[in-house]
Formats: sequence, C-alpha cells, structure tokens
Amino acid sequence: MNGFRVEHISRLVTCAGGPKRGRAMREIGVLEDGAFVVEHGMIRAVGTRRQIAAEFSHFPALDCGGKLVTPGYADSHTHLVFAGERSAEFARRLRGDSYMDILRQGGGIAATVRATRAASEEDLIEQALPYLADMLAMGVTVCEVKSGYGLDVQTELKQLRVIQRLNRLQPIELIPTFLGAHAVPSGETAERYIDFCCAESLPAAAESGLARFADIFCEAGVFSLAQSERYLRRAADLGFSLKVHADEMSPLGGAGLAAACRAVSADHLLQIRAEDVEALAASETIATVLPLTAFCLGEAYAPARKLIDAGAMLAAASDFNPGSCCTYAVPLLVFLCCLYMKLSIEETLTALTVNGAAACGVAERVGSIEAGKQADFLVYSCPDEAFLPYFSGVNQVVRVYKRGVKVYG
Ligand code: NIG
Ligand code: FE
Repeated sequence: MNGFRVEHISRLVTCAGGPKRGRAMREIGVLEDGAFVVEHGMIRAVGTRRQIAAEFSHFPALDCGGKLVTPGYADSHTHLVFAGERSAEFARRLRGDSYMDILRQGGGIAATVRATRAASEEDLIEQALPYLADMLAMGVTVCEVKSGYGLDVQTELKQLRVIQRLNRLQPIELIPTFLGAHAVPSGETAERYIDFCCAESLPAAAESGLARFADIFCEAGVFSLAQSERYLRRAADLGFSLKVHADEMSPLGGAGLAAACRAVSADHLLQIRAEDVEALAASETIATVLPLTAFCLGEAYAPARKLIDAGAMLAAASDFNPGSCCTYAVPLLVFLCCLYMKLSIEETLTALTVNGAAACGVAERVGSIEAGKQADFLVYSCPDEAFLPYFSGVNQVVRVYKRGVKVYG
C-alpha cells in the first residue's frame, strides 16, 4: 500500500495556514496527540489520533514514539556550491582583520571565485554532497542555493548545472538562484560589470532555464543602490523572481529597494534603516535574517524582533558559505533566533518552515503539515518544541521524511 498513518505524536506542529507575518507568526497550529495520513508522498488528512485511526484504520501506522513532529525546514539562503575553503581568512579575522578588508585586498569572495572557476562540475558535486547530507540530518528538506562564485557566464552556468545535478543526487529539494552580481571581478568597475550582467550573464542564465531567482550583493563598495536597481529590473524583465543581499554591512537602503522591486525576499538586514523596517512590513517581501552570519562575523544581529513587531513576514536561513558563515547548523540557528534575536520558539519555527518555504517560492507545496501538501516532516527525540533552543545547538532530529519516504534516520 502507498499510504500510512503517522501517529503516537506528543505534539504535532503543523505550521498550517500559509506564510505568516507579525503576530500571526506565533500560530504554529499544535495538535496534541495529533496524527496525519500520507498517501503517494502527499498529506491526505490531518486530525487527532482518534479521528485518523477511525477513518483510516485500513492504513498501516508509523509510530513516532510519543515525540515531537514538525514540517521539514526550508533553508532559504545558502551559497553551498563552491570550491576550496577559507580557513586562513577566518584565522585572519580572529586576529582582527575585517571581512570587507579581506575582500578589498583580493581575498574573500574573489578567492573562492578563483577556486570555483578552476573546479570541474564533478569536483563541485563531490564537495557539496557531504554538506547536504549534514543539512538533511538536521531536518532541512528544501534548500535555496546560489551561484555567484563565477562572475563569468561559463562558471555561473556551471554552478547552476551543478545545483541541478545535485537535485537528482540527494533528497533535499534545491531551489536555484543566479547571483551573478556577487562581487566585482578584478580589473572591472562595478558599473561596467552591471552592464555585462544586464547584457550577457542575466540573459544567459534566463535562457538556460536553470535558475528561479536572481540576487545581488547590494553593499557599499560592491554594488550601489542604483546599480542594484538596474540589475534587478533587468532580471525581473527576464522572468526571474528576485532576492537581494541587503543592508548587511552598511545601511544603503537595499531592503527598501527590495520592497520597491517586489522582491520575494530581502536578506541579511543587520543595518536596515528604520524606514525600511516599515517598508518591508508594508510589503509582500520577506525579511530574511541570517543570524549565523552575524554570529560568525561577530556583528550585531538584525532587528528581527522589530521586523516582526512592525508586521513583517520573517524567514530565518543559514547563509552557509566559505567566508562569512561557514556553518549550516540549524540547531545553532534556532538557538540564536530565540536567545539573541528574542524570537519565541513559535516565531522561529514559522520562520524556518512555512515562511522559509515562501522565501524559496514553494510555500504552496511544502513548509507545513496540512492536507494537499508534500509529506516532508521531521521526528525528534524530544517531546516538545520548547526543547529545541533548550538543548542548545544540539541536533534533536532523529528521522527525516521527504515526500513520505524516510531519507534520514
Ligand atoms: O551572504 N555577502 C555576500 N555574500 C555572502 C558571503 C560570501 C563569501 O564570503 O563567500 C554572504 O554573506
Ligand atoms: Fe549570502
């Protein structure tokens, strides 16, 4: 039979009801002793154990051991396809050099660009697969992945092809983003490079059909607000959905630009201006916070509390990359959201599930446990979501199901 009942769940966190903003982010739809039915990889019905057992008695039962069950996590911002590593740079930062100083001196993103250009598709796949296996074990079932370590048409497309191949090689669903405007290549000016992106690399990426989103690093000393706007408008014309690396190191106004361009998300936001908190709250653009990056850079966190209180839709993601944030540890991400960004565990779970799925553009299919959605769910070793930040930085996911199939545990 192609169906089963999922039951003996202490608390079933459904996150039902679509992406949420402001106060509604606290509503995670908990069913005590809840149960659900999976058929052909999809969720057919959700209810109490008694209801489900009565109506679907002919289905076999999957026992969750009286523990917590939640939807799978959607990590909506990563740079996980790259070659090489930058541990020496991390050591430099421990000695006091800043991330932007290292970038200006030809290290940083430029170093990863050199390594990624030299790598084969197979090299990139081999390096990425173990990262994805780790992420899966921590409950990630959907993951956005950016290009951006090529800065030329050939290598950017190579990264996008690698994302497509990785999609078929492991269980996490990968959502591809073209990040051609990640840095200014050496010997170029930002203005000329944006000309090139608009005339060549964005059209080539659109033509390939390999990316759903286009993204840009809008930052002082990288791409200005006007250059970012030009790139984003061109990308929208070519059919891309938009994302923006906004207000990470300086308050340039990238978040306001993202809202004005109707971007799906504005990401980072460490330095977001007060007026742009309001602009995001009044828009459909998701505010995506990446507290692992602030943690790894030793910077102040994004004002996630203020964003939610203003009524924004907030997602939380890892930003895994070899420079500013060499981690994808979801348990640590949960801990930072709760302890240092002052989110409740309910808001944190919404940010990581249904809102993360919305930031990946797939919330109509995944991100919650409700009838009609894909059966992507997690079984934990703990009985209650309160344990997630309490066991600080410890992985409590013991089984992961993707489209109703056990893919970990
Ligand atoms: O999101 N800020 C720009 N991009 C990445 C860092 C990439 C890198 O350092 O390789 C980020 O933090
Ligand atoms: Fe990033």
